[in-house]
Amino acid sequence: MEPTSGEPDVVLRVTCAAGVAELVADRMLQSGASAVAEEDVAGADRDGRSDRHGGDRPVSLVGDVAAGAVVSLREFVDSLDPDAGIEVLRPGGDHLDAWRPFATAVDAGPFLVRPPWIEVEPDTARIEVVVDPGHTFGSGSHPTTRSCLEAIGDIARWMNPTGETGPARDVHPTEREDAVARSAERRGHSGWSVLDVGCGSGVLAVAALLAGADRAVGVDIDDAAGVTSEEVARRNGVADRYRFEAGGLPALLERGETFDLVVANLLVPVIEDLGADLVSLCAPGATLVLSGLLGDQCDRALHAVGMPACAGVSGTTPVDRYVRDGWHTLSTRPVQA
Ligand SMILES: C[S@@+](CC[C@H](N)C(=O)[O-])C[C@H]1O[C@@H](n2cnc3c(N)ncnc32)[C@H](O)[C@@H]1O
Repeated sequence: MEPTSGEPDVVLRVTCAAGVAELVADRMLQSGASAVAEEDVAGADRDGRSDRHGGDRPVSLVGDVAAGAVVSLREFVDSLDPDAGIEVLRPGGDHLDAWRPFATAVDAGPFLVRPPWIEVEPDTARIEVVVDPGHTFGSGSHPTTRSCLEAIGDIARWMNPTGETGPARDVHPTEREDAVARSAERRGHSGWSVLDVGCGSGVLAVAALLAGADRAVGVDIDDAAGVTSEEVARRNGVADRYRFEAGGLPALLERGETFDLVVANLLVPVIEDLGADLVSLCAPGATLVLSGLLGDQCDRALHAVGMPACAGVSGTTPVDRYVRDGWHTLSTRPVQA
């Protein structure tokens, strides 16, 4: 299997039975990894056998693979060891700049995201977002980022008083009515605010500002995200409406700040950790976008924000779902406690 050229790498930790580790490491190398390191599993006895992993000893394998290879790698690992786990640690590793020569402009919803060194023909029908993510996550090319951008485009259409997302678009009449009704139903003040949790390059916050939001805040545990996202905001002419909150979610919660749109492109364990905070940061009637989810993780993410499952016969939560390359993004409206 060839690695997908032009895609940023993601660093994965695969925890699986020692007996299949060699096969998994081999598949990771075929999926673009330049090296795969074996790590001890925290708390596991190296000689001990477990009651999971078919009774075998668990080991962790860490390596960078092409983002587009993650889903098929997971299927492969699951077929060998149903108890195996895959965590995405972060993009990059030693290859933080490897994607740059292969970068392309990316279409997602109403947006066209491009790095500054790629020129495109001006297109008044697209909202151009110029992003150099540096060493942060958020070039725009990852399937989760693209789905979040699609969701933001759809949300902007009904959040903006005119029902339009930036440049002129064809809006279906019923969608327009819905947009106007939903705008009117909102808080009685004009403009809408956005919180980008795990902002990385700030691509989502900046896209939302360009699509009509009047204020956006980014937070991230990666210090580089502060400088990078503020620079991305400046380059796109929205720096006066964007701020990186270095104090993170605790600072926002302490001040009681709330937002009309909260976007969280994270991973399911992080969403589970932050779930209640994400809901507290939603203004009444706000939309919450959860991303970075594999299909079978959607209900875990919804549960973390106090909502019933959306899948299966018992699914009752209304969600808009965006799926790309096996990654799921959910757009929903949480119920405040
Ligand atoms: C998948 S990237 C998303 C980047 C960008 N928003 C995008 O959509 O392309 C996830 C980001 O979340 C950040 N992150 C991880 N855990 C976090 C936490 N507990 N609080 C805030 N940010 C976190 C990571 O540093 C990373 O920048």
